[in-house]
Amino acid sequence: YHVDWDASAAEKGGYDYFMLKEIVEQPRAVADTLLGRVGVDGTLTLDEMRLAPQELREISKIIIIACGTSYHAGLIAKYAIEHWCRIPCEVEVASEFRYRDPILDRQTLVIAISQSGESMDTLMAVRYAREQHSRVLAICNVNGSTIPREADGVLYTHAGPEVGVAATKTFLTQLVACYLVGLYLAQVRGTKFGDEINAVIEQLSRMPEQIEKVLGTVQPVRELAHSLSDARTVLFLGRHVGYPVAMEGALKLKELAYMHAEAFAAGELKHGSIALIEDGLPVVVVVPSREGRGVLHDKIVSNIQEIRARGAYTIVIAEEGDESVRPYSDVLIEIPAVPTLLQPIVATVPMQVFASELALAKGNDVDQPRNLAKSVTVE
Ligand code: AGP
Repeated sequence: YHVDWDASAAEKGGYDYFMLKEIVEQPRAVADTLLGRVGVDGTLTLDEMRLAPQELREISKIIIIACGTSYHAGLIAKYAIEHWCRIPCEVEVASEFRYRDPILDRQTLVIAISQSGESMDTLMAVRYAREQHSRVLAICNVNGSTIPREADGVLYTHAGPEVGVAATKTFLTQLVACYLVGLYLAQVRGTKFGDEINAVIEQLSRMPEQIEKVLGTVQPVRELAHSLSDARTVLFLGRHVGYPVAMEGALKLKELAYMHAEAFAAGELKHGSIALIEDGLPVVVVVPSREGRGVLHDKIVSNIQEIRARGAYTIVIAEEGDESVRPYSDVLIEIPAVPTLLQPIVATVPMQVFASELALAKGNDVDQPRNLAKSVTVE
């Protein structure tokens, strides 16, 4: 009697690629990021940050530095931190940061986001910030890696090891860690949004179920990806936090499917890029949630109408029950309704599935895309 078994297949939990397994692990990964940090009464405990409440009250500016997908997490964090904490927040790719003479001081909190904790660009930026006497907080996944060791404090994402070169579960958990930092700062500094903060904390705790829901509805995205495997380019549009989500969708497609992909802020379309729209061009649109951002929602619906009138093949990611987009969507992908600032957690998942399926359709190595390394330890 003979059983076919190989260790690497077992490690992949029945999936052909680690990335596919890592996508479905996201509810658990996010639950682990939240574990022990959110009290029943909504109090957050982030002691590992090693930044005293007094220091946190004195912060006058935040600068987030990161590369690639981690940079996209930083862009989303900016919207949340500025809204909840009323602290000015800049986000910059780490490789640019120290070469432009940035303004840093003791009241500046630098947040370095890095899955591996080893990206050389981010590490160099951290060293530079510390030389300028800024406080540095690392958001990392790999315990004991270099960046957290050199930072003043660290918040680990606890996503577990990520083998696929493309970041998936580590991105969602970075988002959760960023939200926790923003909400904690708001609590410590006592901003006027107390009720909103408590409501968001409650919603954040429910994210694992919401991601599970999205994973249950992505089968049409797989089919869609296979039907688009000959497309030469795919555009992504978003607004507000949906814009960095669009950027992440485009990056995933480039690295996995080796396709040209580009993201635009939907409001910028009319300033030039709409000229790219031609018959049959696939455009993925992230529709803002209707809660609190009604104006943006309606503006993007008219963007969808505009591009469709010019021949675009519209792939629309919108909240469930949002009937206003249906007439203009060639493909409608529904995600759960969650507060606007948290929408990236659910809106990113269909994009990850889309890119990985396109890679599969093209016969690419999903875990080890050409020319890429999991962590970039050279400048
Ligand atoms: C993401 O899919 C990429 N592999 C890449 O952009 C990555 O996010 C970037 O190199 C940053 O890595 P880090 O988070 O380990 O610093």
